[in-house]
Amino acid sequence: MSTLAIPETLSVILERKSVRTYTGQPVGEEHIKWILQAAMAAPAAVHKFPWKFIVIRDSEMLHYLAGGLPFAKMLAEAGTAIVVCVVPQEAFAGKTELAVIAGACASQNILLAAEALGLGAVWTALYPDPELMQFVRTELDIPDTVIPLNIIPVGYPSGKDKATAKYDAANIHWEEW
Ligand SMILES: Cc1cc2nc3c(=O)[nH]c(=O)nc-3n(C[C@H](O)[C@H](O)[C@H](O)COP(=O)(O)O)c2cc1C
Repeated sequence: MSTLAIPETLSVILERKSVRTYTGQPVGEEHIKWILQAAMAAPAAVHKFPWKFIVIRDSEMLHYLAGGLPFAKMLAEAGTAIVVCVVPQEAFAGKTELAVIAGACASQNILLAAEALGLGAVWTALYPDPELMQFVRTELDIPDTVIPLNIIPVGYPSGKDKATAKYDAANIHWEEW
């Protein structure tokens, strides 16, 4: 597409992929802290940062959550998971939409930081499914005022999952629609 040398950060963005198979090697706390630092470096409307993160490393809990979440069966194998939550009351004007957007920005930073650290991760859905959100709320004692947005398993990738080319020039309009 271009003759420019690709900066490392762009390579990380282009190489990021949903990782659903892991080696089982545990992820160190220092890696998790870097990932959370990246999460909280995300943008959010009017400098209000309504996010909270629950780090889960307890194998029994990960297995239990995997058992109740049909699209997150890989949780147990990853060894670590981060539940990204948002508090609408802490977003600008108390708006749920702005809280969710901030949480999505933080989530993307988590996925990119994992890739940059040689780890694998995948966004698994909770919001906006009421049943999935309620299941996780109950298991993790999350108050009703808090939205659990997703659960992101984080682990060492098996190498099976590959980035797919999603660039499509047809999605771009220059100057006008
Ligand atoms: C809002 C949202 C919900 C998603 N939910 C799930 C999920 O529950 N389980 C899963 O395995 N992947 C889930 N994904 C990951 C997508 O399937 C994945 O990002 C998409 O297929 C593109 O593939 P890539 O991430 O490898 O580029 C979700 C992604 C987003 C943004």
